This record gives sequence, C-alpha cells and structure tokens, in this order.
Amino acid sequence: MVMAMRILMVASEAIPFAKTGGLADVLGALPRALARLGHHVDVMMPRYRGVTHGEPVGRVSVTFGSRTRTADLFGVTHENVLMLFVDQPEFYDRDTLYGTSEGDYDDNAERFAFLAFAAVDWMASTRARYDVVHAHDWQAGLLPALLADPIRARALAHLPATAFTIHNLAYQGLFEADWLPRLGLSWDLMRADGMEFWGRISFLKAGIVYSDLVTTVSPRYAQEIQTTEFGFGFDGLLRERSADLVGILNGIDYDEWDPARDPALPEPFTASALGGKASAKRAVLEAFGLPATEERLHRPLVAMVSRLVDQKGFDLVAGAADELPGLEATFVLLGTGEAKHERLWRELAARFPDRVAVRIGFDERLAHLIEGGADIFLMPSRFEPCGLNQMYSLRYGTVPVVRAVGGLFDTVRNYDPVTGQGTGFTFEEYSPDALLGTLRWALAVFADAEAWRRLQLAGMRQDHSWGASARQYLAVYERAVRARATRTAD
Ligand code: ADP
Ligand code: GLC
Repeated sequence: MVMAMRILMVASEAIPFAKTGGLADVLGALPRALARLGHHVDVMMPRYRGVTHGEPVGRVSVTFGSRTRTADLFGVTHENVLMLFVDQPEFYDRDTLYGTSEGDYDDNAERFAFLAFAAVDWMASTRARYDVVHAHDWQAGLLPALLADPIRARALAHLPATAFTIHNLAYQGLFEADWLPRLGLSWDLMRADGMEFWGRISFLKAGIVYSDLVTTVSPRYAQEIQTTEFGFGFDGLLRERSADLVGILNGIDYDEWDPARDPALPEPFTASALGGKASAKRAVLEAFGLPATEERLHRPLVAMVSRLVDQKGFDLVAGAADELPGLEATFVLLGTGEAKHERLWRELAARFPDRVAVRIGFDERLAHLIEGGADIFLMPSRFEPCGLNQMYSLRYGTVPVVRAVGGLFDTVRNYDPVTGQGTGFTFEEYSPDALLGTLRWALAVFADAEAWRRLQLAGMRQDHSWGASARQYLAVYERAVRARATRTAD
C-alpha cells in the first residue's frame, strides 16, 4: 500500500473556474484522479474576475522591491480537492487571463511571480507539510526556483520535492532581466545554468532547471522537445535533463466528456447505439446557421475547435483554403485567437456560405456539441504537446484527422485499409498538400459506411481515462521525493 501523499499544485487555470485551453482541463481532472487514489491535493491559482467561489481561509503577504502586497486566499473543497484562490485584484481582476488581442499584459512577470511567492508564503505561514509541489507551465515556473533557495527553504516546516510540467514549450515566460530586482530576486539567477535565456529571464527555464523532476504531456513530445526542430532553444537544456524528463500522456475527464450523459447533446449515444450522433449533427448545423437539409446531413461534417494560433496549423489550412470548399464536406470552426486567422475563416465563410461556417468565441457547450455531431475532427498541428480534442473526438465517435506529432502521434492510429484497423488518419509532412491528401482519403473512407463504423468503434473503445496517467504522476512524485532526500542529505 502506497502512503498517501500531500501535493500542492500551482497553475494559472483550472476548470470549472477559468479556462483558455487544455491546461485548465488537466488541472480540473488530474487532482481529482489523484484524490480518488487516496492522495491529498490542494490546487492554488489566481482568483480571476468571475471566480466567486470559496471563503477566506488565510492571507499571504509578498514583498517585491520596496512594496508589500497582501492577498486573501479563498478556499473551497471541490470534489475532494482543496482549491485555493489568490485574491489580488490589482493583478487578477481583469477581463481576460493573460492579455488582450493587442498582446500580453505588460505586468505578467509580476502577476505570476506573485502567484509563486504567494504559494511559498502560504506554505511557510501554515507550516504546511507537502511532500511535493507540482508547478505547471511558465506561470508557475518561478516556484521551484524559490524553493531551491536555501534561505527561503529555511522558513518552511518541511521542504517539499518539486515537479514541473511543461504543457507547452512555446510559452516561455520571457521577460527583461531588470525584472529580477523589481521582483526581489537575486541577480544570481541570471546565469546560463539559472533562468537566463538569451539575455532575458525565462520563468519556464526556472521551472525546468530548479525542479527535481520535469514532465511533459506525452511521451512523443518528451522526445521531440529534445530536438532543435521542436525545442524552441530549450533542447540543449532538456537533453541535459533527459534522465529527469518524463512524458506522461494526459487523460481526459470521462465525467465531463461522455456521450452517454453529456447535457450538451440533444440525445445520448454510445458505441452500441450511435443513433444520437445524427441529431447532434443536425444541432451543430443549426447552431452554425446552416439549414440541416437531407443533402447536408449526409455530407461529412469536418470540425475544428481550437485556439486560433500558429501552433494549430492554421497556415496549412490557409494554404489549402481554395481547395477545401471543393471537397465533398461541410466545415465548421469554433475558435478564438489571433486576428489573422479569424479574418481568413470569416472570409472563407463569406465566400462559401454553403460549405464553411465559423463561430469566433469561446463556447464550452458548443465545443461538446461539435464533438458529438461532427464526422471528422481536424487537428493539423505544427506541434502538439498532447492535445485533448482528438481524445474527446475518439470518445464521441468523431474520427480525427491529425498531423502525427506529439500527443497526436501517441493517441491516433492511422487507418490501414488492408486490415481495416486504426482510429483516424494521420500525416507527417507539414504541407497543405499532405493535409488535403489525407482529408480526401478520409472522405473516401467515409463513403464506405462499414469501414467508417469500424473506425468509429475502434476510437470509442480506447481508454484515455485519467487513472493510468495519475499513477504515472505518483511514480514521478515518489522519484522526486527520493531525489530531494538524496540532495538534502548531500
Ligand atoms: P490547447 O491547450 O493547446 O489549446 P488542447 O487540445 O489540449 O489544446 O485543449 C484545448 C481545450 O480547449 C479543449 O478542451 C477544447 O475543447 C477547448 N477549446 C479550445 N478553443 C475553444 C473554444 N473556442 N470554445 C470552447 N472550447 C475551446
Ligand atoms: C497545452 C498544449 C496541449 C495540451 C495542453 C494540456 O496547451 O498545447 O497540447 O493538451 O497543454 O496539457
């Protein structure tokens, strides 16, 4: 019997409280999965505008330079996980989490340094005895660096081991070095083996360098980020830490994403009774203002739900834009993000109103409905640390067409026309032609109802629940605790 662990996770978003992407889904589900295995998990995140949950449970005080700020911590127990919200309105009471369409907020260094300092102050003032502190992405990257500082460590009743998860290496938390003194941090961190990155500081690098163990969200991405192609300048550092870098595939939350009991669907459906998919398709078409004619109901529906950023392969879609409407399919997109991608899709929808429809915005319910009603889900990502939508698609009998990178490589098996096996369609070359060729192939297989049904069922039978991944995180935590114990004994 494994001893119950006490874990503090720190991150910038978690469902159902605040979400811009998959990070929030993971922070919603992983702590709960660990709690279900008998472990004790607290999650700390900012109390953004709109987060009204919880009661004051304590107060932290953080000094940057000459200014001390305090923040109340609001706590609420949600499905056996204690959520701790840091209430600092000057930093977090804003319309959006990270910035506006003009760019990131220019005080993000301070906003997220505050989160890390708040976590340390909370641990010190409550005399907490966490076995592990698990920080996620650059927004929490400073925390392992703070805990590696012996002076700060002395203020703690117990020094936890640290784990850091890279959800996306493209977001590096890069700031000018003169933030160091403004954040009350030592210039000593400005070293190649510290948090210096090409003359600036990187919160992501702090997380990688100072944590006992580093994880990322798929085994394939763990390999990819050690190459120059996917390493964004961090590949050398990641190769150095390769023995401490573990790829753990994200799970998906089977309570939230289950076609048999998803309130966003007009009718439930399962692998043995797929009928409800047709009414979901009708509802998607209607939600996009496309009359659900018989002809359109028969035509394959290809969907994307995505942040509109380069990572997701929108330039490939742009490169194929003139040809897409000629395919025997209807395309729908739900997304929000960079203006150039929004514009392209709006233009496409205006030019081909019968074939392309777009909803710019963030709409959780519509995202669920699309997973239920689409025939094909498209993810032609340039890189993809894990990706959750392709796993939602598999569960909802929606066949993914993906580029074979990162977590997409690990979760979607290419269709083999000889054996009839596979769960989707994959391509390797990052080119509009490869995308188009693969889509054409998928559409051809769609016309073969029996083959298509086999693909759908194979996908629906996959198990991507969180249990197995949560156990792998526990193994990482145990390793981190051992590593920390060895280091402290030295
Ligand atoms: P990433 O985290 O890189 O954005 P993931 O595939 O891991 O990619 O996770 C994206 C999550 O965000 C999924 O749960 C997806 O449904 C959701 N999502 C993305 N864009 C939207 C949107 N416009 N409306 C609703 N949900 C969205
Ligand atoms: C990031 C990645 C995505 C991953 C998610 C959750 O946002 O872009 O691939 O699924 O984090 O780990």
